[in-house]
Amino acid sequence: MPADKIAAGGADWVENWAQLVRERDTRPTRAGTNVNAWDERAARFAQMAEDLDPESDPLVTTVARSLRPSDSLLDVGAGAGRYTMPLAPLVGRVTAVEPSAGMRGALERGVAARSLANVTVIPASWQDAAVDSHDVVLVANVIQMIEDVVPFIEKLDATARRACYLFIRVEPREAALAPLWRQVWGSEPLREPNFLDLYNLLFSLGIRPQARLAVRRPEERFADLDAAVAMARATLSLTPDDRRHDERIRSFLEGRLTPQGDGSLAGSFSPQSAIVWWDKA
Ligand SMILES: C[S@@+](CC[C@H](N)C(=O)[O-])C[C@H]1O[C@@H](n2cnc3c(N)ncnc32)[C@H](O)[C@@H]1O
Repeated sequence: MPADKIAAGGADWVENWAQLVRERDTRPTRAGTNVNAWDERAARFAQMAEDLDPESDPLVTTVARSLRPSDSLLDVGAGAGRYTMPLAPLVGRVTAVEPSAGMRGALERGVAARSLANVTVIPASWQDAAVDSHDVVLVANVIQMIEDVVPFIEKLDATARRACYLFIRVEPREAALAPLWRQVWGSEPLREPNFLDLYNLLFSLGIRPQARLAVRRPEERFADLDAAVAMARATLSLTPDDRRHDERIRSFLEGRLTPQGDGSLAGSFSPQSAIVWWDKA
């Protein structure tokens, strides 16, 4: 039985969400639900999967606590398998739904390299995927792109037997680079649906989720200033070959990066994220 619905502040949280997604989708190099754009990001996501430490990652450690060895786990929008791969050894089977061929390729290579025999990959969007019930459902860094979010959530809820976990940013990816964004685009960084929008949305649908704010990621390491500039270009929605703003980006970053003993540079540019979950009655 869903709980009573509460629309915080009397707002229409469904319309708020759709409006934020539409605004955000006007960004120049926005990937959104365009799967070809995700193909191009597969290598970066494969690297993030490689770098993830399952002992300290907040999403992995939180979901792992609720998993049992016989469980089935569904990872929606699994990407290159950043969460599928560390969680697969803890359960009986994992289904990874992923519409981008490039991401699936990276995921399948990672699964093979780790000899994980219990992962099935479904090449589809969540809206189109035909999937049976799973004990636990996980959606990381996907829901903020979905304009028609209510059927998306209803399908997640209907597919989960025991619990649903969502991972979403608290603030936009480019928050730490907001001064640069203003200089490059002459406007404020666009908002995207975030943790607070999701929390209120779920209450307005009659779902009362738990939430945990993830500890901010430690400083990121960059091999050199060029690597940090490449990160900033991507975060600023500039194409990799658009070098017009490089000088500005360099001088902004130089003041915010600390040289390390091994010649690399460290700085904090990642936004905070939150884990939002609900147990099925
Ligand atoms: C930011 S990545 C997140 C990947 C992974 N969950 C992670 O956190 O590393 C977003 C992923 O969602 C996928 N995606 C986009 N639209 C989707 C949809 N409608 N249903 C399922 N996945 C979708 C993209 O192809 C991409 O792999």
